[in-house]
Amino acid sequence: MKLADNKATLSFSNGSPSVELPVYKGTVGPDVIDIRKLYAQTGMFTYDPGFLSTAATQSSITYIDGDKGELLYRGYPIEQLATSCDFMETCHLLLYGDLPNADQKTKFTRTVTMHTMVNEQMQFFLRGFRRDAHPMAIMTGLVGALSAFYHDSTDINNPEHREIAAIRLIAKMPTLVAMAYKYSAGQPYMYPKNDLSYAGNFMRMMFATPCEDYHVSPVIERALDRIFILHADHEQNASTSTVRLCGSSGTNPFAAIAAGVACLWGPAHGGANEACLNMLEDIQKMGGVAKVGEFMEKVKDKNSGVRLMGFGHRVYKNYDPRAKLMQETCKEVLQELGLQNDPLFKLAMALEKIALEDEYFVSRKLYPNVDFYSGIVQRAIGIPVSLFTAIFALARTVGWIAQLNEMIADPEYKIGRPRQLFSGSTQRDVKPLAQR
Ligand code: SDX
Repeated sequence: MKLADNKATLSFSNGSPSVELPVYKGTVGPDVIDIRKLYAQTGMFTYDPGFLSTAATQSSITYIDGDKGELLYRGYPIEQLATSCDFMETCHLLLYGDLPNADQKTKFTRTVTMHTMVNEQMQFFLRGFRRDAHPMAIMTGLVGALSAFYHDSTDINNPEHREIAAIRLIAKMPTLVAMAYKYSAGQPYMYPKNDLSYAGNFMRMMFATPCEDYHVSPVIERALDRIFILHADHEQNASTSTVRLCGSSGTNPFAAIAAGVACLWGPAHGGANEACLNMLEDIQKMGGVAKVGEFMEKVKDKNSGVRLMGFGHRVYKNYDPRAKLMQETCKEVLQELGLQNDPLFKLAMALEKIALEDEYFVSRKLYPNVDFYSGIVQRAIGIPVSLFTAIFALARTVGWIAQLNEMIADPEYKIGRPRQLFSGSTQRDVKPLAQR
């Protein structure tokens, strides 16, 4: 961050003295007005619920150009990473700042592989849940519970602890998500197998049983690996900001990531993929493509409370590049599985076409986001709808931990403590009960 050749002067119509605020420039993207001294100089706060115009941090990890529909991880376009790299290379990039060479990749992948098992005690946490518990409820509990087992990596201020905690979290999330699935299916847990890829190992832990060998389909393995890459990080979104704020208190990384899991669950955020698939199935039940027009009228009626799930984004005011790549992955997987006529995929394509030509969506710059097609491809792979967001959390863990570690390593970081505009009662005295 460096001083821009520009300053912001804040003047007040009531004659209060003006203040000058420094403007900083990043390497790309909007400049920022540094308001850290505003309260000391004016006795006033800024007001920005939902953080529409607020940069809460500086970061060098992920850059999004919402107008152009561009997404860069450490400067590399998501389109190139999704087609030329795998998830392990992407994890190395997000954590350490650059793509690994062949030796670094082998070492990093081996290190992750050697941490995929979880403590045997972890399985007893699942028994407390009903078999039909939502996987995100289970994941919120399991990820938080990890902090009970790794006291040798919970000092967030120790760089070695931060690194081993990052590896453990990236390595163990697939194992935990698969355990949550097996628990709901009433099947035995499958242990990780070290000779499989990250995505292949996850597929086997999900779909294999002790009764027979399981063969990973290379097309599905590649598709899942790409889904992980597309979900890996996304700047200061709600769950990443939750992880940062939670971690800013100095709590351990497992607790901070558990907070991110809880936030991602929401249908406005990571829960949108599950909500989108359920929406498509509802429209299909109503009559499919023939009923799209009727559904769209509901979406455009403010009073209906109905949203086109998987559409719209706070930052993207153009096509989410991940949605394009997800649509391509969808086509490949459906083709591979002989499901190219999947009715839900056709319905999604019809919805997208109508929305992109409809003034309501065009005027609000609403485009498909990462969640619009991801559910269709995961469902085709055999992943239950309720597990979609848990898989989003599995993939996003590397982004969360990279962002958390970046914050903790920043000598300028402080505990996050926003203020408020108070609109409640001014001081008043308690009346005795008999007089109330
Ligand atoms: C993710 O932040 C990230 O980077 C998140 C994420 C990541 O990788 O971490 O990209 C992952 O969360 C993707 C978004 C998934 N959510 C959904 O698909 C849910 C449906 N979309 C929305 O609810 C909404 O678009 C949000 C939450 C994504 C964004 O909300 P904003 O930025 O607060 O926008 P808004 O609600 O103020 O909407 C602006 C206008 C409103 O209409 P007006 O009041 O101006 O008339 O657009 C309308 C909204 O009603 N609108 C929609 C809509 N999304 C916005 N109308 C119908 N359907 C939608 N999906």
